Amino acid sequence: MNILILGSGGREHAFAWKINQSPLCDRLYIAPGNAGTAHLGANAPLSPTDFPAVKKFVLENEIEMVVVGPEVPLVEGIWDYFANDEHLKDVFVVGPSQAGAQLEGSKAFSKKFMAEYGIPTAGYREFSGEEVEEGVAYLATQTPPIVLKADGLAAGKGVLILPTIEKAQRELRAMLGGKFGNASSRVVIEEFLDGIEFSVFVLTDGKDYKILPVAKDYKRIGEGDKGLNTGGMGAVSPPPFVTKELMQKVEDRIVKPTIDGIRKREMNYDGFVFIGLIRVGGEPYVIEYNCRMGDPETEVVLPRLENDLVELLLSVRDGKLTEQQIIESENAAVTVFLVSGGYPEAYEKGKEIKGLEHIKDSIIFHAGTTVKDGKIVTNGGRVLALTSYGTTFAEAASLSTLNAGLVSFEGKNFRKDIGFDL
Ligand code: AMP
Ligand code: GLY
Repeated sequence: MNILILGSGGREHAFAWKINQSPLCDRLYIAPGNAGTAHLGANAPLSPTDFPAVKKFVLENEIEMVVVGPEVPLVEGIWDYFANDEHLKDVFVVGPSQAGAQLEGSKAFSKKFMAEYGIPTAGYREFSGEEVEEGVAYLATQTPPIVLKADGLAAGKGVLILPTIEKAQRELRAMLGGKFGNASSRVVIEEFLDGIEFSVFVLTDGKDYKILPVAKDYKRIGEGDKGLNTGGMGAVSPPPFVTKELMQKVEDRIVKPTIDGIRKREMNYDGFVFIGLIRVGGEPYVIEYNCRMGDPETEVVLPRLENDLVELLLSVRDGKLTEQQIIESENAAVTVFLVSGGYPEAYEKGKEIKGLEHIKDSIIFHAGTTVKDGKIVTNGGRVLALTSYGTTFAEAASLSTLNAGLVSFEGKNFRKDIGFDL
């Protein structure tokens, strides 16, 4: 079958790499893709949120499956757009419906969902623009640090952790006053949880589920987890602290009730639930849901998945997920992201990337790259992810770090300590 992947990051390159290995895939397209995906399929100059353009492309190229990488088209309702169009309704869209995507698209929705199904998460209250003073008064009763979350999608910037009540009150006023536009017209104030984070990925058809390899990402720009938050500087799979016992608690207390909730609410959901978790005193709590795979986690999860991904996805379409068994590699995998100088703040693009030919024993996943005058150049903050395998994660990490040193572009930056805390 012909398959279209929407998106242009390292996650989408990893999807393309994995899907391209399947004998079930005939033609593969990536829209808009990057310099790396162009070697695995054909890049198409389409915006994933331009649904009419996606429709035209799908019909012209006889696409039977659309894998949606990022959250925005899902939250904007691409699943429903296909389901409600008589020419598109038989095309399988991997992702949730707009209703299901609310698990990521609205923090207030996801907190209510967790409360309803008894899923462990931080205590919270939510406040709207008309309730500023109530919110400010509520904060005065709380103990810092204080967690403020914009309700809607804010490109990963909508969560603030404030060290004092005064700062939290100032930020709450700013957020409800439109700091993140519509996304912060409602704000969730959450109890701060202190622990170690990890990411669990669940493939579901809204009734049954399979748990994919577990991972941990490193969000801060600086070594030792210091400095600004980024889209992700690296990832490890599996993180050794996620024991069988902890995973059993995650499955029983979080995954099962989440899928049950999706089923009970009759939300159409044919894709990935990414559960951001934190371990506090040996117990797992949900930090957030996302309605898609993680980036950079996908760059370690898919390399460790030994199943045919297309076959797995088709079992979701056909309601036969229970017949599948997830096969996880014995090897650990680590990915290290090379980023542009200045990222996550202002950075320059268009820098020539050299040395990729020296990399023999890591998988190169492109993210912010493009081809200009026949040369591969930088085209974003996160540029390339290098994934390596190892019998231990430490072995995999040192291989990726070593190889990160062999690639060069002006301003290149990367963390040499991915996995340092494990
Ligand atoms: P989110 O966008 O919800 O994943 O939040 C971004 C980051 O903020 C998370 O990865 C955590 O590191 C942190 N965070 C979010 N909620 C909490 C919480 N309740 N307690 C502690 N840290 C949090
Ligand atoms: N790695 C976190 C995310 O994809 O949101």
